[in-house]
Amino acid sequence: MSVLIAPSILSADFANLQRDIEMVNNSKADWFHLDVMDGVFVPNISYGFPVIKAIKKYAKKPLDVHLMIVDPDKFIQQFKDVGADVLTVHYEACIHLHRTVHAIKDAGMKAGVAINPHTSVHLLEDIIADIDVVNMMSVNPGFGGQKFIEHTYEKVETLKRIIDFAKSKAKIEIDGGVDLNNAAALIKAGADVLVTGNTVFSSADPSATIAKLKNI
Ligand code: DX5
Ligand code: ZN
Repeated sequence: MSVLIAPSILSADFANLQRDIEMVNNSKADWFHLDVMDGVFVPNISYGFPVIKAIKKYAKKPLDVHLMIVDPDKFIQQFKDVGADVLTVHYEACIHLHRTVHAIKDAGMKAGVAINPHTSVHLLEDIIADIDVVNMMSVNPGFGGQKFIEHTYEKVETLKRIIDFAKSKAKIEIDGGVDLNNAAALIKAGADVLVTGNTVFSSADPSATIAKLKNI
């Protein structure tokens, strides 16, 4: 299967959100990637329920919601109610990750687990069979448009081996600094989903950029 492309709405024009949603609808993109930041887990605040609900009204593709928040368990049902299809929590934010992952699935969503650049992929070995998506952060979470961390390739290769060994169906999603130069190597290393914010939305023709990423 070809790589899935998930444009990150964090880099969209919030004053023209519907236009940018339609652009993604009419492009070769597969998912909408929505970044929720609480100013505690990460040093930035983005957007929350009302904005996701508004996006859901127009989005014709699944919503991949990436929670960069502490204590995500409190809000699982609310994210389901506003339309999340994939709900991703951070490994570093969850004391009882197994419970959280199953609460997400029980609420009727795909469960994702994100790991920060410093977090070892080996820490996922005992939960990998329960996970639908691993979001591997290739920048420190909090902002769009940051520089890709090169060590990510090694982590993707190791995670791929862990997934295959466990016969897990987890997809590997790369998040942060993905561009037209590193996408091919990421796919070769084992990436299944590429999140792209700045690369897509700062390009002259976002839809054409999505198509280029999709065809790599
Ligand atoms: C960063 C977010 C990313 C971000 C990616 O904390 O998780 O999803 O929007 O943006 P780019 O592709 O610009 O690095
Ligand atoms: Zn993200």
